[in-house]
Amino acid sequence: MGNDDEVLAIEDLRCDFLTIEGILYALSGVNLSLLRGEIHGLVGESGCGKSVTSRAILGLLDKKHTRTRGVVRFDGRNLLARSEKELRNIRGKRISMVFQDPLNSLSPMETVGSQIGEAIANHIPLETAELRRRTASLLERVGLHPDTAKRYPFELSGGMQQRVMIAMAISCEPELLIADEPTTALDVTIQAQVLRLLKSLQRELSLSVLLITHNFAVVAETCDRVSVMYAGHIVETAPAAALIASPAHPYSRALIDCIPRGRPHGSTSAPLPVIPGSPPRLYDPPSGCPFASRCGQAGEDCGVMPPRTELGKGRMVFCHHPRSEP
Ligand SMILES: Nc1ncnc2c1ncn2[C@@H]1O[C@H](COP(=O)(O)OP(=O)(O)O)[C@@H](O)[C@H]1O
Ligand code: SF4
Ligand SMILES: [Mg+2]
Repeated sequence: MGNDDEVLAIEDLRCDFLTIEGILYALSGVNLSLLRGEIHGLVGESGCGKSVTSRAILGLLDKKHTRTRGVVRFDGRNLLARSEKELRNIRGKRISMVFQDPLNSLSPMETVGSQIGEAIANHIPLETAELRRRTASLLERVGLHPDTAKRYPFELSGGMQQRVMIAMAISCEPELLIADEPTTALDVTIQAQVLRLLKSLQRELSLSVLLITHNFAVVAETCDRVSVMYAGHIVETAPAAALIASPAHPYSRALIDCIPRGRPHGSTSAPLPVIPGSPPRLYDPPSGCPFASRCGQAGEDCGVMPPRTELGKGRMVFCHHPRSEP
């Protein structure tokens, strides 16, 4: 049974890639609950499974070389058990997605207006004049001049292209928007503007947003709650401000220590601190705590997978020795 406040619930999501080098265990039992009207950050280093999680939700993984199990509950049903036809009706209409690189998602041959129009027409039958009107109003809503409709993607800056992608993503008034590193390719000032836009749209449209990022500074500025991901596992979930103020999991703490103090988004040329060591090889994942090889607090008990521990106030962590709140 679902919780009424939940827009999407992921339970024990597992995803294995069948590669020529063997089986890569990309997701090893992900649990995540997205609440209505929240911006939920999904944060972790590169390669920890953030994008695979987002693609699994929308059924975008290549079925031939991928084994996916678990439950992704949306609207009372498991998306993983839905047909491709049913998923096509959900994608772009009820759940939409914004990717890191807008140019890869936009067609170079069509104007921005015709691409936004197509995104609407895929789900909502409208007369041409009404499509044009709606396209113009979407462009204004994301901070672009309505005449941008006549332009081609390559004529726009990276920030404007990402605004076009956001206009397409909200064009059918979805309940959930998944944004996978939407500002990573943009320069610092534009990043901040696009994040502000996402936040104001989320409020106006009562959207739920899953905001994927490797950058805790983005979480600090934008998110209500956050889940920290490591080596295909969620290791901690909590309200964003509480987690940043007092991370319970050693990996969350290490990531937060990498936030440049007083420099939103790392806006200087000084090198960022990095977490020593590297994540485990996912072809041969450890049976115990996945962070053990990099954890300064690891003890003998860490050779066994840590169970979920509830810390109260909506916080949970997977660690044998979580740090409690000061
Ligand atoms: N199509 C694929 N085939 C094989 N391995 C993949 C594929 N897509 C992703 N992976 C692997 O799955 C792991 C998680 O990747 P990903 O979710 O893209 O990480 P990130 O957290 O950076 O978004 C990585 O080890 C990556 O190499
Ligand atoms: S379970 Fe052990 S190794 Fe894993 S993060 Fe906690 S203390 Fe470190
Ligand atoms: Mg990614």
